[in-house]
Amino acid sequence: MTFTQQDARPELESAPGSEWWRTAVIYQIYPRSFADASGDGLGDLPGVTAHLDDLKELGVDAIWLSPFQRSPQKDAGYDVADYRDVDPIFGTLADFDAMLAGAHDRGIRVIVDLVPNHSSDQHVWFQEALNAAPGSPERARYIFRDGKGKNGELPPNNWESVFGGGMWKRVTEADGTPGQWYLHIFDESQPDFDWTNPEVRAEFESILRFWLDRGVDGFRVDVAHGLIKAAGLPDFTPDPEGGSMGGDAAGVPYWGQPGVHEVWREWHEVLAEYDGERALCAEAWLPTVAQTALWVRPDEMHQAFNFAYLETKWDAEALRDVITESLHEYAAVGAPSTWVLSNHDVVRHASRLALTAENPQGAGIGPKSPGKPDPVKGLRRARAATSLMLALPGSSYLYQGEELGLPEVIDLPDDARQDPTWFRTEGERYGRDGCRVPIPWTADAPAYGFNDTGAAWLPQPAEWAEFARDVQREDPASTLSLYRSLLAERRAHGLGAGSLEWLDGYGDDVVAFRNGPVTVIANLGDGAVELPAGDVLVASGPLDGDTLPTDTTVWIAAA
Ligand code: NOJ
Repeated sequence: MTFTQQDARPELESAPGSEWWRTAVIYQIYPRSFADASGDGLGDLPGVTAHLDDLKELGVDAIWLSPFQRSPQKDAGYDVADYRDVDPIFGTLADFDAMLAGAHDRGIRVIVDLVPNHSSDQHVWFQEALNAAPGSPERARYIFRDGKGKNGELPPNNWESVFGGGMWKRVTEADGTPGQWYLHIFDESQPDFDWTNPEVRAEFESILRFWLDRGVDGFRVDVAHGLIKAAGLPDFTPDPEGGSMGGDAAGVPYWGQPGVHEVWREWHEVLAEYDGERALCAEAWLPTVAQTALWVRPDEMHQAFNFAYLETKWDAEALRDVITESLHEYAAVGAPSTWVLSNHDVVRHASRLALTAENPQGAGIGPKSPGKPDPVKGLRRARAATSLMLALPGSSYLYQGEELGLPEVIDLPDDARQDPTWFRTEGERYGRDGCRVPIPWTADAPAYGFNDTGAAWLPQPAEWAEFARDVQREDPASTLSLYRSLLAERRAHGLGAGSLEWLDGYGDDVVAFRNGPVTVIANLGDGAVELPAGDVLVASGPLDGDTLPTDTTVWIAAA
C-alpha cells in the first residue's frame, strides 16, 4: 500500500529505542579502494586504520567494511575462500584487530560483511565437493543436481545468473566424464550453499561467533533474501527490465523464500548472547518496503537496507511517498528505517540523479551508455539529496567518496574493467567498476594519496585532484564541509531519534518536513521557493536571498 502525504500520521517516528543502530550514520568502506598502506594498488586494513581520524572528523557513528576475508577476488571479495582469515592483499588478522581497536578507541562501531549465500569455488568445502561423488555429504553442502536431457547435458532448470548467462555449471566427475551441475546465483566461481543442510547452518553460526568474539559490532549480511530456494527448483523467467539483484520481481523462486526467516531467527539468538547491542543488517532486494520489513521483525535482523529509497527518482511526490511508507512499515515491526543513496553496486548518486535514461541497478554506465549525466546538475542534486536524507529519523548509510561528491567514473577503459558482470554479459552491461575507483585524499600526491606509489587497481580520472580531501577540508563550500555540517547538526538536534511531520504549503515539487526543532525544505522544482523565518543551520548550495533555488535543500532552526 502507498501512503500519500494526506494519509500520513501527523508524526512518523522511526521505531524509537536507544540501541546505537537505530539512529547511526554508518560509513561503508570498500577496502580495496579506500586507502592503500602497502602501495600495491589495492587498499588494505592498515590503510583504514591510518584514516580513522578522518572518519572521526567527518562525524560518522560506525563503519561497515565490505569483504576483506580470504578470497581469489573474482567478485571483489564477495567470493570467500576462508571466512575466518584476512586475505593477504588486505593484511592480517592482527591488522584487523588493530583497526577494530582503533575504531573503538574513537567511539566508532565496526560492522563487517558476511557472505552466507555462496562461497568461492576455492573454498575447501567446494573443492571437497568436486572431488566427492554425487549424493555424498560433501556435495550436500552445495546445490548439486543431475542435468536434464538424455545424458544430463542440459541444466537442471532455466534460471539465469544475476551477472548474466546461466545459473548452473556442469562439473567433470573424478572418472573424467561430464557430471552433475551446481547452482550459482552469481558468478560460476560463487557456488551457492544448501541452507537446508544443518551442517551449513552450524558452520555459519561458528563463523558468526568467530567475528563476534573478536569484538565486531555486527554484520552486513550479503544476499539476505537468497539463501533458501523454492522446493523443486521450478523454472522461472525474470522480467528483463527487473533489477539485477532481484529487487523488482515478485514470486522469484530464489529470492525471498519464507524459509530464510528461520535462519535470521537463529542468528538473532546468537547475537543476543553477546553484550554491546550487536546488529545484523540485511542486504535484501525485495519488491516492496512492506516485504523488506519482514526481515527486521523483532526476532530477526535489526536493520535492512532501504533500496526502495535508493531507487526513488529525484521527484518530490515519489520521495514523500517512499519516506512515509518506509517510516510506517518499519515502525510497524518495531525497526528503524534506514536510508541510503549510494553503495558499491549502484551508480554513484552524484551521477545517477542526473541520468536521463533508465539504468537498471547493477548495469552501470560507460562510454556508450545513453543519457549521460550532467556533472554539475548531478552534484547539486546529490548534495540536496544527502541533505534531505540525513535529516530523516532512523539510520543512514554513506558510501566512501560520496562525502567528496565523487561522480561515477564513466570513461574507464574496457581493459581496466574487473566486474564479472562486464565479462559474463560480454560488455553489454558495464557493471559496477565505475563506483569502485580508489578515492582521492591529497591533490598533489601519487594516486591522489590513495598510496605513495601511484599504483591503483582501477585508473583514477585526471580531474579527481579537485575532489581530493585535502582540497575540500578547508573550503567551507565543499561537499566534505557540507557532510561535516550535516552530521554535526544531525547529532546536535538528535534527528536520527526524532520524528517527521510533513509540512504543507510549499508546492508539489517541494519536500518539506519538520524533525523536532529543525525544518527541512528540499526544492526539486524549477522555481525558487520562499523560505520561512529562522536561522539557516545548513544549506546544500547557495541560497538566493530569502529563497531556495532549484535542487537545493536547507535546514532551518524553527524561529
Ligand atoms: C551483493 C554485493 O553487494 C555484491 O557486490 C555482490 O556481487 C553480490 N552480493 C554477490 O555476493
